Amino acid sequence: MAVSLIIGSQWGDEGKGKIIDVLAEKSDYVVRYHGGNNAGHTIKNNYGKFAMHLIPSGVFYKNTKAIIANGVVLDLEVLINEIALLKKSGIGLTGRLFISPRCNLIMPYHKLLDKLYEEAKGNSKTGTTGRGIGPAYSDKVSYNGIRLGDLFDKNVFSQKLETQLLIKNKILKALGEDALSQKEIEKQYFEFFKKIKPFVVETYPILKKATDSKKNIILEGAQGVFLDNDWGTYPFVTASTVLSGGATAGCGISPKKINNIIGVAKAYTTRVGAGPFPTELTDETGEKLVEQGHEYGATTGRKRRCGWFDAELIRFAAEINGFTEVAITKMDILDNFSSIKICTGYSLNGKKSGYTNGDTNFLSKVKPVYKIMKGWMKPTKGIRNYEELPENAKKYLKEIEKQIGVKIKYVSTGEERNEIINL
Ligand code: GDP
Ligand code: IMO
Ligand code: MG
Repeated sequence: MAVSLIIGSQWGDEGKGKIIDVLAEKSDYVVRYHGGNNAGHTIKNNYGKFAMHLIPSGVFYKNTKAIIANGVVLDLEVLINEIALLKKSGIGLTGRLFISPRCNLIMPYHKLLDKLYEEAKGNSKTGTTGRGIGPAYSDKVSYNGIRLGDLFDKNVFSQKLETQLLIKNKILKALGEDALSQKEIEKQYFEFFKKIKPFVVETYPILKKATDSKKNIILEGAQGVFLDNDWGTYPFVTASTVLSGGATAGCGISPKKINNIIGVAKAYTTRVGAGPFPTELTDETGEKLVEQGHEYGATTGRKRRCGWFDAELIRFAAEINGFTEVAITKMDILDNFSSIKICTGYSLNGKKSGYTNGDTNFLSKVKPVYKIMKGWMKPTKGIRNYEELPENAKKYLKEIEKQIGVKIKYVSTGEERNEIINL
């Protein structure tokens, strides 16, 4: 009976969806509380293979209820399509999906502005997912957001939209885009809302009741620590708070009520989009990781940059988030590497250095310090019992534990639900 918070501890795509799909079996609620459809959480189970963008990853168990809480920014069209896709696959959500009316909406101008900012930045672009996430969150924090609940009263929605278009259309026109039509947006959003309305309800009271009655709750983090708006590699980050502290604001659960904080990390490192990446491999070893790991984004299909496991990053992630345990994923992808490196820290101009010593510019200059480990060169795919792992794989995991200072609780050995070691 516990509240477990799942946090991506690298640059996203660590396999959070897979771990949540496993843990949700014993959960009463699974909650998304930040980010939007920039997330793509892959799940492979008896229903098929899914990339979840907005609906919490725990919905594949009929008794698990799903909450999209206030901190999430919503693209209603994506949400509606995802609900329909799940329904087609036999996953009905009626009566077990609850969406907070406090969620801010991603509007058509947010997606356009996302694109325009990226174009304006040229070579220094962030490499966003293009889903309008940054512009939607910036309107939210500058009191210009339109919330899902505003759609309950057509006049309220129209009035807010009119104010926004007054400014947004001037910007769009100045940058060579067509002005957006108030009427068309209204028509579209009122249609969307008809489909979503049955799911919209204040989620705080539901979660309060659930925590009071000691239900099992999973809080589903999106993105990864190094995309956090404050503590990531700014400005190559996302717009929300990815750290464990963001869960409190994002769904209204007191930090005192969170029992487990599980950091998810790949057995190596990947990143999509621009920004510094000290252990990145731009040689054939990096290509081999892409190939063996099928490292293409679940949301945009972009090829992921790949590199060795960076313990300096995870050590920081563990500390700032308060990880109580860690899940290591994609262990099987390292099966065919005769030698594997772990970054134990950084150096700059011959001097020892670390993640918190500087900003993004600084991080792009550091050199990783490596400990070289012998590979195991044996298949680990599908192994469910720790004892069956090859000795060198155990040594690799022990070294990671030693470096990051947190116990490894789960080792994922494949994309399927049952391919996991629970320690
Ligand atoms: P998320 O965003 O953190 O949920 O991760 P993604 O779904 O974007 O990317 C993780 C990818 O790795 C997905 O394609 C998963 O199916 C896959 N995956 C997760 N765990 C494992 C594992 O242990 N082994 C292998 N081979 N694939 C895995
Ligand atoms: P999940 O939940 C990986 C990255 C983008 C870009 C930066 C900003 O699947 O782990 P944004 O669209 O958020 O403004 O883009 O953040 N990014 C992710 N990378 N996994 C994700 O989510 C991501 N969500 C955003 O690639 O570099
Ligand atoms: Mg992903």
